Amino acid sequence: MPKNRRTSLRRIGWMPIAIMLATLTLMTPGSVARGQSARPDSGSWWRHAVIYEIYPRSFQDSNGDGIGDLNGITSRLDYLESLGVNAVWLSPVYPSPQVDFGYDISDYENIDPQYGTLADFDHLVQEANKHHIRILMDMVMNHTSDKHKWFIESESSRTNPKRDWYVWRDPKGYDANGKPIPPNNWTSLFGGSAWQYDPKTKQFYYHKFYKQQPDLNWRNPEVEKAMFDAVRFWLDRGVAGFRLDAVPTLFEDPRLRNEPVLKGTDAFGDPNLDDIYTNNLPEVHDVMRRLRALVEKYPGDRVLIGETYLPNIEELDKWYGGAKRDELQLPMDMQVGFINKLDASLFRKRIQDAETRINGNQPLFVFDNHDNRRSWDRYGDGIHNEAIARVIAATLLTSHATALMYYGEEIGMVTSTPKRKQDVKDPIGITGWPKEKGRDGERTPMQWDSSKNAGFSTADKTWLPVAENYRTVNVKVEEGEPNSLLNWHKKLIAMRASDPALRSGKQIMLDDTNPSVLSYVREGVNGSPSVVVALNFTNQPRTVSLDTAKVGVSGSKVKTLMTDAPSLKGASSLHNLTLPPFASWIGSVQ
Ligand code: GLC
Ligand code: CA
Repeated sequence: MPKNRRTSLRRIGWMPIAIMLATLTLMTPGSVARGQSARPDSGSWWRHAVIYEIYPRSFQDSNGDGIGDLNGITSRLDYLESLGVNAVWLSPVYPSPQVDFGYDISDYENIDPQYGTLADFDHLVQEANKHHIRILMDMVMNHTSDKHKWFIESESSRTNPKRDWYVWRDPKGYDANGKPIPPNNWTSLFGGSAWQYDPKTKQFYYHKFYKQQPDLNWRNPEVEKAMFDAVRFWLDRGVAGFRLDAVPTLFEDPRLRNEPVLKGTDAFGDPNLDDIYTNNLPEVHDVMRRLRALVEKYPGDRVLIGETYLPNIEELDKWYGGAKRDELQLPMDMQVGFINKLDASLFRKRIQDAETRINGNQPLFVFDNHDNRRSWDRYGDGIHNEAIARVIAATLLTSHATALMYYGEEIGMVTSTPKRKQDVKDPIGITGWPKEKGRDGERTPMQWDSSKNAGFSTADKTWLPVAENYRTVNVKVEEGEPNSLLNWHKKLIAMRASDPALRSGKQIMLDDTNPSVLSYVREGVNGSPSVVVALNFTNQPRTVSLDTAKVGVSGSKVKTLMTDAPSLKGASSLHNLTLPPFASWIGSVQ
């Protein structure tokens, strides 16, 4: 997750029936025709997909213990299919002490009993396939749980064969009181020194995240072998790919140089550091190439998605392997969705960068995840939040980029941050209180209907409380309301799947000095009509005249495809188009 998730993301930081089943699973969904283009992956499903992140604890509880589970997700596949998503990424469901709610894995080849069994997992994959939905796992390669058998062995003695699987170092010295001094100044993204002392073996181990999440030593080839075995385990079971957690943090500087100290302190009171020796080290790309080669051995177009908070587009391009395209297919572009203010010029520039400066690779945009306040609150002005949510949805779903959504985004779920420290579940919210209140707010249960616990669970107490607004903001209510935010998302997703221009046309910016309205063309494909999108990013009415001929798209008449402005339903020309505050308009060029 990003280092300063509340404000700037400029600094990177943070934040054997199986084979048969696998083949079957991957043949059917999507069944996309192969294109004629030179690019080998041009017909790949993930180029056109809407991927939906589920935080399993919070999606649907099936056994009444107040915690979501796999069978709960299976029971909601009809909904996911009606929404139109092509793949689901499950945040971690492996056995885990749940210190970081699954991102501390104690066994990479099983399911945590809280979420079900391997049989439940196989059932989910099979049923999802019937709904044309692929399942993606979250793969946490930087660290394990301190309760993983590898770490238990590693910490048992300095001579244990697994000692070198983690990053162990001697103290730099001892202070006047005989207290060991950490090897250097590196800090954990979750507060305090990144070094934890083990009195038994008198060495420190390194942890970028919680101390219960020791970093693996990726300079030891045995670590890669073990982790790649886990990757194969799930590919053999039929998963369509992985989201790679915190993957830029795999390597650390072997010389353990101190990181440059920047101005100020973070939410935990630690000095801000320039994380040049613990983040995005070039060695990681060799691992990514080998991982890609492994994945390519499987049939069915499996995909690698990266949690890649990076400082600029050049760094992002490296994660694809640049023009070689031999690393991740979809490293996340965090430069767009986490701008966190509706600045049309900045959005234009960042989208254009993704369109033109990554060697023709496929961008992946995302606005919401389980580590950041919901986009409803990050972009909302408190008055026009729903219109703004439509602008965000239109930006995401009419762009050329693959779209990544987070459960609840489609209905306008809000961030429900705990009001009292004693209610906080996310440990960083406890250590960081009150500056950092943790990530519980964006992880509250999915709001299905107006019944008890919003239909999420029959338990008396759910693991996190359901947000207060669930009686009016829920799937059932919004399904019944033609103009709801949910139906806005459904229509956008359906249009994106069926309209050739929206599916794969080039994205070209229009009116490109306008500071208030973001507008662009999605170019028609094989003679299909081009589509124009105009989004008012401000709270004032704005009039635009859009010249598509200038970018080589002819036709002067337009037909409205979708808009939330009644005044624009009959728009027939791109000349003097007046967009009400935060209005969205999408039309086809005739
Ligand atoms: C990623 C996850 C976040 C987790 C961290 C450590 O940033 O998204 O939830 O705490 O990695 O695994
Ligand atoms: Ca690491």
